Amino acid sequence: MNQGNETTLEPMHNIVLIGFMGCGKSTIGRELNKKLGYRLLDTDHSISQETGKTIPEIFQQDGEDHFRSLETQLLENLLIEKTNHQIISTGGGMISRPENPPLLRQLGFVVWLSCTPDDIFSRTSRNSNRPLLQCDDPMAVITQLLEERAPLYEQTAHLEINTSDLDFDEISCGILESARYHFGSLPAPR
Ligand code: S3P
Repeated sequence: MNQGNETTLEPMHNIVLIGFMGCGKSTIGRELNKKLGYRLLDTDHSISQETGKTIPEIFQQDGEDHFRSLETQLLENLLIEKTNHQIISTGGGMISRPENPPLLRQLGFVVWLSCTPDDIFSRTSRNSNRPLLQCDDPMAVITQLLEERAPLYEQTAHLEINTSDLDFDEISCGILESARYHFGSLPAPR
C-alpha cells in the first residue's frame, strides 16, 4: 500500500472508500456512518443529484468520458469546499482518471475494499443500474476491468480490506481502528 506523504496541502479528515462495483462500498459506508456518525456522501448519488440524471442516463446520453469529468469535478469541489468528517463512497471507476488518485488521498484516509470476480459477479448480476455491466458477458468485463484497475486501487489506497471473507461489522471496525491510527484520533464511535 502507498504510505507516501502528500506534501502539498494538509490532507482532510474524511474516510474515502474505493473499489470495484459490488465490493460493498455503499453498505460499509452506511455501517461507518452508523458507528462513527460522519455523514455519508456517495459520489454517484451526488452526480445524479447535480445533473438530475441517473448514472445510466448520463452514460447513455453524454458518454462515459463526460461521466469521468463529472467525477473529477466533484472531487475538486469537495476539496475546494474543504469537505471534512465525512465517509466518501466513490464509484468503482473513480481511480481511472490519472488526476483523481492524488485528489482522493488529499481528501483523507483511502480504503480499498477488494473482493473476487465471482463475488462481484454474484453481487451485481441482479442489478441493471451499472451501464458497464449491461452486456452479453459481464464476467469478462469484470475480469478485464479488475485486472486494469487493481494496481490503481492499490497505489491509491492507504489500506486494503478484502471483503470476501469478513462480515460488514468486522470490516467497518477494522477500518475505524486503522483510521484512528492514521489520523491520530477520531471522534468516539456512537
Ligand atoms: C462504475 C461504477 C459505478 C458507477 C458507474 C461506473 C465503474 O459505481 O460509478 O456505473 O466504472 O466501475 P459503483 O462502484 O458504486 O457501482
